[in-house]
Amino acid sequence: MKVAIAISGASGTHLGLKTYDAIPSSYEKYLILNDNANVVALKEQGYNLFENHQIWAGPASGSFGLDVLMVVPCSMNTLAKIAVGIADNLTTRTASVMIKERKTLLLAPREMPFSAIALENMHKLAMLNVIIAPPIAAYYSEPSSMDDMENFFIGKWLDLVGIEHDLYKRWR
Ligand SMILES: Cc1cc2nc3c(=O)[nH]c(=O)nc-3n(C[C@H](O)[C@H](O)[C@H](O)COP(=O)(O)O)c2cc1C
Repeated sequence: MKVAIAISGASGTHLGLKTYDAIPSSYEKYLILNDNANVVALKEQGYNLFENHQIWAGPASGSFGLDVLMVVPCSMNTLAKIAVGIADNLTTRTASVMIKERKTLLLAPREMPFSAIALENMHKLAMLNVIIAPPIAAYYSEPSSMDDMENFFIGKWLDLVGIEHDLYKRWR
């Protein structure tokens, strides 16, 4: 399975990196970074990454065969562009490919509170089978640290796209 994580300019960019790290190396995985990320440092750490302006990169084409795109975190700007079909960078282009090819697209919108515009965009995308999964804490997993809470978000995202993990305590 081919999986890409795109990191937009919303707060919590490290959540995207942690999600990438949590995906087993048996998956073919890619990272798409927005313009503010530290590309050199991450390349040196071995991330299989593209920059957002690299619109010619593989995931921009349906023929590349990407199965899953997770935008973590997803800014309201990127959400709005995806909702109206704007494909002006690698993240938004890949998202539009996932929608047209009927593949799995998960967005983790990060904003508080959500405006009516953002809610309308999320509703429109949810009706197209896009998974809208903001980083919202649950208490049944008994988090005792920020790390526990983030592992819950990431575990839920991986559940939603069908990737096995053991990141949080499930409700029994
Ligand atoms: C410190 C900081 C925090 C931000 N946090 C958020 C956020 O949580 N959610 C959001 O939608 N935008 C946030 N923004 C605004 C986005 O970075 C901005 O809208 C940007 O244009 C998004 O670009 P992108 O969608 O191409 O990544 C933040 C900006 C800054 C400087």
